[in-house]
Amino acid sequence: MIKVEGYSGKARATTITTEHGEIKTPIFMPVGTRASVKCMWQEDLYEMNAQIILGNTYHLYLRPGHELIEKVGGGLHGFMNWDKPILTDSGGFQVFSLSDINKITEEGVTFSSHIDGSKHLISPEKSMEIQKGLGSDIVMAFDECPKLPATKDTLRESMELTLRWAKRCIDYKLRDYQKLFGIVQGGLHKDLRTECMQRLEEMDFPGLALGGLSVGEKNEEMVDFLNDFVHTMPDQKPRYLMGVGKPLDILNGIRAGIDMFDCVLPTRNARNGQFLTHDGPLNIKNLRFREDTLPADPSCDCKVCKTYSRSYIRHLYTTGEFLAGNLITYHNLYFMIKMTQDARQAILDDRFDDYYKEFYNRYTSRKW
Ligand code: GUN
Ligand code: ZN
Repeated sequence: MIKVEGYSGKARATTITTEHGEIKTPIFMPVGTRASVKCMWQEDLYEMNAQIILGNTYHLYLRPGHELIEKVGGGLHGFMNWDKPILTDSGGFQVFSLSDINKITEEGVTFSSHIDGSKHLISPEKSMEIQKGLGSDIVMAFDECPKLPATKDTLRESMELTLRWAKRCIDYKLRDYQKLFGIVQGGLHKDLRTECMQRLEEMDFPGLALGGLSVGEKNEEMVDFLNDFVHTMPDQKPRYLMGVGKPLDILNGIRAGIDMFDCVLPTRNARNGQFLTHDGPLNIKNLRFREDTLPADPSCDCKVCKTYSRSYIRHLYTTGEFLAGNLITYHNLYFMIKMTQDARQAILDDRFDDYYKEFYNRYTSRKW
C-alpha cells in the first residue's frame, strides 16, 4: 500500500494507496472526531488539499452510533459526504482520556459515557465492529495507552495487553478494502518498543503507528526517542505518529522518518483565538492587534489571509461571531497542510535539513 519515493536524511516522501485515493506524505490529517472537522465544510477541506481526515470510534459509537451511520450513509464517507480517505482511531485512547473508566480487563474496557453516564464495554472485537460499520480506509487496532510517567513494569504489562488485543483485532474480518494498523506502545523504553514492534510485525499489519507519545513526557524526550527509533521501523510500511502535534513536533517527526500525523490543536486552539503563523503562534485576542491591518500571517496565501485583517478577525472573535472560529480553523489547517507539503517537496529535492532549519529559526525567533 506504500511506495517510498525518496529520502532526505531519515525524512521520507511516500505515496500511500487506499480505497478512496492516494495520500502523498508526509501528511497532516485534520481531526473530524464526530464526523465533522469542526467549523469546516468538506469543500473547504478539499480546497486546502486535505488528503485524509480522522474520525473517532468512541464518539461515533456513542453518538449517533455506527449502525445509524452505516444505515444512512453506508459508512462514514457517505454519511458525511467525504469521498477521500478516512482513518478512524480505535477508541483505545479516547476511552482513557475522556470517559470514566470502570475497569480494564482482558476482555476490554468498561466505562461510563462522558455524555450521559451510560455504561459500555469496548473490546477489540467491538472496536473492529464499529470501525467496520464506519467503513474507514485505515482502521486502528484497539490498544491501551498508559500515561507517563509510568514504571517499566506497568508499561510492559500494558504493552503485553496491547499485543494480545492486537491479535484479536487482526483476527477480525473487516471490509475487504480496510487496512488495519498496529499500534506500538512501550513508553520511552527502546527495548520495549522494539519488542512490541517485532511482535506486531509477526502479525504482519499493513501499517504501524506509534502511540503513547505526547502523554506527559518532556518534549525533548519524545524527540530523542523518535530520532532513535523511527528509522528502525519497516521501510515498506506507513509510519503514523498518533496525536502529535504542534508544528515543530511534526517537523521533528518528519525528520525522524514519520509519514502521518494528526492532532486536534490546530482546530481546537483556533476556537480559542490562536493562529499558527510562520513567526510562531499568535493570539488574536491580544490588544496589540486591535488596529492591525496586516493579514494574520503575511507569508500565508490562504483565502483568509488574502481577505481579512487581524483587526477585523479580532473584532469577530471578541464579539463572539461564529465566523471567527471558521476563519482561524481554515487558516490553521491550511498552514499545517502547506507545511507538510513544503516538507515533502524539500525531501524530494533532498534539502529537508535546510527547510527544517529555516522553518525552525523563523518560527522560534519572534515572541508575539
Ligand atoms: N492518539 C494519541 N495517542 C494514542 C494512542 O496511544 N493510542 C490510540 N489508539 N490513539 C492515540
Ligand atoms: Zn492564512
